[in-house]
Amino acid sequence: MGCPISASAQKPAADTLEEIALVNLTDKQRELIMDSWKCIQQDITRAGIILFVRLFESHPECKEVFFEFRGVDDVEMLRVNKELRAHGLRVMSFIEKSVARLHEPERLEKLAFDLGRKHYNYNAIPKYFMYVMPEFIRAIGPSLKDGLTPELEDAWKALFQYLTGMMRQGFHEEARRHTVSSTVPDRNLKDI
Ligand code: HEM
Repeated sequence: MGCPISASAQKPAADTLEEIALVNLTDKQRELIMDSWKCIQQDITRAGIILFVRLFESHPECKEVFFEFRGVDDVEMLRVNKELRAHGLRVMSFIEKSVARLHEPERLEKLAFDLGRKHYNYNAIPKYFMYVMPEFIRAIGPSLKDGLTPELEDAWKALFQYLTGMMRQGFHEEARRHTVSSTVPDRNLKDI
């Protein structure tokens, strides 16, 4: 058996970028996420590694953002890489903080917005943030076993869409700040 997570009818997660700003988690979705986090957090290092190894397999262009992973094609080399382990853990720790702020929407918004701003300076573009959610869902599967119900999956998707949507806004805000403080166009922001 997986973790004891109750299932009930849920509001479906939004599918398009336009809907992101409108996503609101229901009380039931918050509860499902917080309950499942208790199981997920027991193995966050493994989940973080799996998430990034799979992200790099499905979207190799993401590797280019990390200086130390450029040109590394061997999955086993990635799996044991200290930097990848560290970034995976940073991402999972951010999710942990977000879960802890599920009932504090303003603090949650600021957390995700500020992280988006930082990613502008890391050269990690919003298009790439969107690739993370499916890999996160796959990575948490083993911790939850049969506890990963469609309702729980929808709840996590809704949270990810909200967080990555906020990160995207923070990214663009930082890009605007760089553009107005410089006479030279900072970067081509088309298609990101
Ligand atoms: C939902 C998606 C993501 C989350 C929640 C996330 C989270 C984080 C966090 C918490 C940090 C540390 C921030 C700090 O300095 O305080 C970070 C750093 C970083 N992120 Fe992300 N990240 C995400 C997606 C990505 C993607 C897709 C890429 C690249 C393709 C990326 C590239 C980086 C880089 C290069 C750094 C700086 C180096 C490092 O800390 O390892 N991130 N990210």
